[in-house]
Amino acid sequence: MKRLAILGSTGSIGRSTLSVVAEHPEEFMVVGLAAGKNIETLAEQVRQFHPAVVSVQDEADGRRLRELLSRNGAPEILSGNQGPVQVAASTGADLVVSAMVGAVGLEPTLAAIEAGIPIALANKETLVAAGPLVMARARQKGVPLIPVDSEHSAIFQALQGQRPEDIRRLWLTASGGPFRTWEASRLAGVSAAEALRHPNWEMGPKITIDSATMMNKALEVIEAAVLFGLPADRIGVYIHPQSIIHSLVEFVDGSVLAQLGVPDMRLPIAYALSYPRRLPLNGPPLDLYQIGQLTFEAPDLERFPGLRLGYEAARRGGTLPAVLNAANEVAVAAFLKGRIPFLGIPRVVEAAMAAHDPQELKSLDQVLAVNRWARDYAASLMD
Ligand SMILES: NC(=O)c1ccc[n+]([C@@H]2O[C@H](COP(=O)([O-])OP(=O)(O)OC[C@H]3O[C@@H](n4cnc5c(N)ncnc54)[C@H](OP(=O)(O)O)[C@@H]3O)[C@@H](O)[C@H]2O)c1
Repeated sequence: MKRLAILGSTGSIGRSTLSVVAEHPEEFMVVGLAAGKNIETLAEQVRQFHPAVVSVQDEADGRRLRELLSRNGAPEILSGNQGPVQVAASTGADLVVSAMVGAVGLEPTLAAIEAGIPIALANKETLVAAGPLVMARARQKGVPLIPVDSEHSAIFQALQGQRPEDIRRLWLTASGGPFRTWEASRLAGVSAAEALRHPNWEMGPKITIDSATMMNKALEVIEAAVLFGLPADRIGVYIHPQSIIHSLVEFVDGSVLAQLGVPDMRLPIAYALSYPRRLPLNGPPLDLYQIGQLTFEAPDLERFPGLRLGYEAARRGGTLPAVLNAANEVAVAAFLKGRIPFLGIPRVVEAAMAAHDPQELKSLDQVLAVNRWARDYAASLMD
């Protein structure tokens, strides 16, 4: 049995991960769960999966959780920033599923790497903020990072048995989000409710907004550059509204391998949990007769400047991607609270990037300091 620690268990990826676990109780055992503030869901997960250790963000929530659970068999309950770090590194896990949202996922993911534990990585912000550091440390420790993001999982799958030097380009697919066909003038008035309505995927609020601005694809270009060791100019984007092809690899001979499937995150999650095996999964099969057409468009960097900013951050590197990520996190939160308009999100990110003098990436402390600076700077633009 593989012992799992799941960071962000109450979120969209966390819940899908537990649904794969529930379908394969003979394969997996849950030893640790880290959540934020959704105590009711965490309590249900504890009752169902019996982890030995759980963490919550605030101490008061820890006390509430203790009250919700019967004394018998209640897990150890941690709180604060060190909670997810301990769940990741000190619960005897064989695999850590890193699925918190935002750069807060960085420290627990690094802690798992330091402890030599393989990682199923959904938390793309970790690789955006500190990719070269994380990859270098994972290589030194011999820790595999298995992508969960559907695009990167698709590339990872297409690369099985291939030589990295045979890659010419990577192609990430993007649904284009809910505003793919909207005129630029309409985008100014987009509401949070409209932006939260993704056409194909059910995801947490932050990544859903990132998909609507196409900042998600920006983060993914940076993530792919880091994970697969290619410069950003060899990573292209196809707008593919059906979200059936999850990404493609073009090889030096012109041959292209793609991975296809229904848009269900349980597929890349299950692959990351059981790699290199595949587990049978319940769910509707891919029916290409019914889908009929797979279509492709070029991304529009004018209407969706977030993607242009992502390429710039990937190209210039150093601490700039961390600034893009931190400013975006703050701007998305402000948009969801109705404090800035939809087009304010890329404007805030661009302003923070312009105000930053990128440095070579050297240490976790430096990344955390840059992250703090960019968050404060972005917040000051919205006062
Ligand atoms: N959803 C997808 O389909 C998808 C696809 C590809 C990649 N990803 C990536 O996977 C990650 C998770 O996305 P998601 O959609 O699952 O997000 P989500 O639904 O918002 O869930 C986020 C999780 O992180 C927890 N969390 C947030 N802040 C925390 C903190 N300070 N301490 C501890 N836990 C904290 C939340 O806890 P509470 O809810 O308890 O507060 C929740 O469990 C993101 O990096 C996203 O980009 C997601």
